[in-house]
Amino acid sequence: MYSLIRPFLFRFSAERAHHLSLNALSVCHRLGLTPLLARRPPDCPVEVMGLRFPNPVGLAAGLDKNARHIDALAALGFGFIEVGTVTPRAQPGNPLPRLFRLPPAEAIINRMGFNNDGLEPMLDHLKKRHFTGPLGVNIGKNKDTPAEEAINDYIIAMTAVFPYADYLTANISSPNTKGLRDLQEEKALSAFLAGLMDAYKGLCAKFKKNPPLFLKVAPDLEEHQIDDISNLLLKHEVPGLIVSNTTLAREAVKTHIYGHEAGGLSGQPLKEHSTEVLRKFRAKLGAEFPIIGVGGIFSAQDAQEKLDAGANLVQIYTGFIYKGPQLVKDIVDGVR
Ligand code: FNR
Repeated sequence: MYSLIRPFLFRFSAERAHHLSLNALSVCHRLGLTPLLARRPPDCPVEVMGLRFPNPVGLAAGLDKNARHIDALAALGFGFIEVGTVTPRAQPGNPLPRLFRLPPAEAIINRMGFNNDGLEPMLDHLKKRHFTGPLGVNIGKNKDTPAEEAINDYIIAMTAVFPYADYLTANISSPNTKGLRDLQEEKALSAFLAGLMDAYKGLCAKFKKNPPLFLKVAPDLEEHQIDDISNLLLKHEVPGLIVSNTTLAREAVKTHIYGHEAGGLSGQPLKEHSTEVLRKFRAKLGAEFPIIGVGGIFSAQDAQEKLDAGANLVQIYTGFIYKGPQLVKDIVDGVR
């Protein structure tokens, strides 16, 4: 089905197609038509950090930034869904165009810049959802919040969404918010994690629940940064890690007309490197540390490589755009 729809969608600009397809998906869901789009995968439960995932394939952050389409996306069979990145206040993101498809490379470049409606509308959607499977909320900082005050935005966002989230993700790795990735540097990260974990533990005590908190990192890390981040995750007792966000590398797409667009590159060209970085984190963090692997998964074999490299769960974004909803079932059917 999706192979018939995709050429139609790809005639529109990438951002137009994005809104069109999500809105159409929600209409289909309300009419009970989602089973026509994809067959649901069989139950293949995984338990991670006390949460039961019906299967290990999740939707990565950034597709449903405002949590408007949770139930429709869930109907496609995802084992879990991550919404956001949400920032405390609504912001428009970067000027258009800011989203580029690179079909020969099965890749996307985006410089969306955390366009989102802010916390209040998201809370409404979170409260109204029917989806009971694990729901993650990915949080970030507003563009105009100075770097030194970044932690305040994360705490504001975490506090607001905490009662409604099954897990939380602190995204410090978008390349499209100036200075954000600097939070990955040792000194800044130590202070950031100390503040974040302090607030997190307070919220766990207040609400008497422990939704795991993940840190989401970039794939563009030097060896010593992987060491530093691992040490700090353990030192500050951060519950989990997501590897990885998009990359700044362009080698694989340098001949494509959009290959030099600013932003983060995702999809096939990201796969191997993000899996390598994941493998290194697994080696540093030990066998028990929960890790979600994301980056360039287009098949069950790609997902299996992430699992073999040490991921407990996987997420997809660009593969979902190119392959459609059937990819979820294909992965669930094909991984061990
Ligand atoms: C993203 N990604 C992302 N990640 C995040 O933590 N917050 C976000 O708001 C976004 N926004 C976003 C927009 C677009 C258009 C894309 C393509 C990606 C990153 C995404 O969640 C994922 O980490 C990477 O895209 C790598 O996975 P794939 O796409 O190669 O499967």
